[in-house]
Amino acid sequence: MIDPGSSSAILAELAERGVDQVINSHFHFDHIRFNHLFPNADIVVHEYDEEAMSDKSKFAVKYSAARIEGMPWVERLVSALNGEIRTPEGLTCFAYDPEFYRSVGRVSATYRGDRGMSLGDEYLEVIHTPGHADSMCCFFFPSESLCYVSDYNVLTAWGPWYGGEDSDIAQMIRSADKVRSIKADHFVSAHDRAILSRPEFLHHLERFLSRVEERNRTIKTLIAAGLSFQELMSKGLFYDQKYHNKCWVKIWETMMLIKHLEHMGFEELIPQCCRIEARKPRFYVSNRRSDFRVTGCGDFPGPGDVLEHSESEHG
Ligand SMILES: [Fe+2]
Repeated sequence: MIDPGSSSAILAELAERGVDQVINSHFHFDHIRFNHLFPNADIVVHEYDEEAMSDKSKFAVKYSAARIEGMPWVERLVSALNGEIRTPEGLTCFAYDPEFYRSVGRVSATYRGDRGMSLGDEYLEVIHTPGHADSMCCFFFPSESLCYVSDYNVLTAWGPWYGGEDSDIAQMIRSADKVRSIKADHFVSAHDRAILSRPEFLHHLERFLSRVEERNRTIKTLIAAGLSFQELMSKGLFYDQKYHNKCWVKIWETMMLIKHLEHMGFEELIPQCCRIEARKPRFYVSNRRSDFRVTGCGDFPGPGDVLEHSESEHG
């Protein structure tokens, strides 16, 4: 079983029939979500995902939550998931979709990119294609001349996603060269409801990648017009602003914007608190709750609330 991310009823039925190995192409929630329906199977992940898939905090950090919301936010998220913090709507509100966290915490084995893997009678080639996620791999089945291209979901008009701490726009584009060179007759992605012939896939891949340049151009124009980071955020360049009250959407909107600013050399526009070099002092000064002032909603932070570090308490 590769990437059990949806259709839980079908997956549960398959689990009952007997699945001995679940392989995740990368750690994203929509690829690992129903790993937990396969308690008797080995869970096999890319070596770069071993840590994140073994520990809920590290999972959230890799998903950008720490850079945007701070480490205390992550720790509170994990406490909520573990049932240590209970509020009326706390868990669903704070954790957004807690179900996928049930799949975090168990890893049986790891695989590495750019080598072969035997699965019973079947053989597949693992092609490491970082960028969307540092671990992401495509799986080529030579006997079927079919390649599973994970999140090179080229039919989406939305374009590629790179909102993770480990995402990298330039790498994602370079990895597309690797994907183009895969000698498969057919390609299937994790999200598109189609198996595409090689010419179809390659055609749509170019359009898919062109979204990156379109986004660059839009952002450049807005910067030239004098927009600040916050004003760029308010444009909802990736996710419509009406969804920014959902914690993960806001986190990913912020990270996607940061990734573009880094990619185009506009680092000076990135708020200090979100710059990589600022991570350590911001996140690890202390994790005592009293050391952080919570703005927004009562004694339990809502998804979009900012946990502000109170300088005066640390001198
Ligand atoms: Fe993904």
